Amino acid sequence: MASPIERSAPGKVILCGEHSVVYNRPAIAVPITDMRAHASIVAAAGKEGLRIAAPNLGQDFLLHDAPENHPLAKTARLTLQHLQASAPDATLTVQSDIPIGAGMGSGAAITVAAARALGTYLGTELTPDEVSAITYEVEKIHHGTPSGIDNTVISWEKPVYFIKDTPPEVFEIARPFELLIANSGIASSTRAAVAAVRQRWVANSAYYDIVFNCTGAIAHAARAAIEQGALQALGTLLNENHELLIKMGVSLPQLDMLVRAARSAGALGAKLTGSGQGGNVIALVMPETVDPVTAALHAAGATKVWHTCVKTRYT
Ligand code: PMV
Repeated sequence: MASPIERSAPGKVILCGEHSVVYNRPAIAVPITDMRAHASIVAAAGKEGLRIAAPNLGQDFLLHDAPENHPLAKTARLTLQHLQASAPDATLTVQSDIPIGAGMGSGAAITVAAARALGTYLGTELTPDEVSAITYEVEKIHHGTPSGIDNTVISWEKPVYFIKDTPPEVFEIARPFELLIANSGIASSTRAAVAAVRQRWVANSAYYDIVFNCTGAIAHAARAAIEQGALQALGTLLNENHELLIKMGVSLPQLDMLVRAARSAGALGAKLTGSGQGGNVIALVMPETVDPVTAALHAAGATKVWHTCVKTRYT
């Protein structure tokens, strides 16, 4: 029997520009390559079509029995449609090391890994653009109106400077940098946070457009700081971005506390990341401040702190 085909995809974190990215301002996201979703596919003996299993989520079903809006079924159907193929007699199994519901792209990474594995099984290595387009459609189930930044960074597996409806720009990282990602332990809903910002924007668009413009300018400047290896400047820009996210109404006292604790313990900058109203904060740290900032984040209530490095090269 042939050995399974395996594909994987990374998690992600948004460095700056969340929410305003929905309104066509730039944002920056980076992949977390050491946290991954995995998919494997192997031929099945029977003739029942495609079976999809996610053992960690307690799911195991046949594609032809699955509802239209099941994310894994939608991934398989869109991939088959794209390749103009019919479902093979095979079993597609997915598994993820990326925390679920933590704004780290777990759902999108599972989609990317599954679409790639199925594509390869059917004889086509999907390109980042192809897999990103499939993932964007699946993300709509979770997010309603996603900007497209998550599917893009996860499919490209490179830091991206992203503006909605334009091709993603991959840029140079002059100097590697360390990030801590701290979970507040408060569940957040991207769909609800995005809808709440939209309501405020509709009620007061002149003001929110200014907030979004300032955030976009920060993302633009942050790209330059990263390209120049100016980490101190990048930290300051992250701090300023957090203030604008407070103005957008998506922070919480608990997130502000984590951000302040990280800065006081020596982080170059800290902000909430992703949709806010809970979820995670990120802190930009130097190698020597990883430990004290991690300890300060725990003391300020973080339920979990991850450490990742943004590298200069991504293959
Ligand atoms: O909560 P996350 O990490 O999936 O990020 C959402 C980012 C937003 O800008 C708030 C929404 C979007 O679609 O870009």
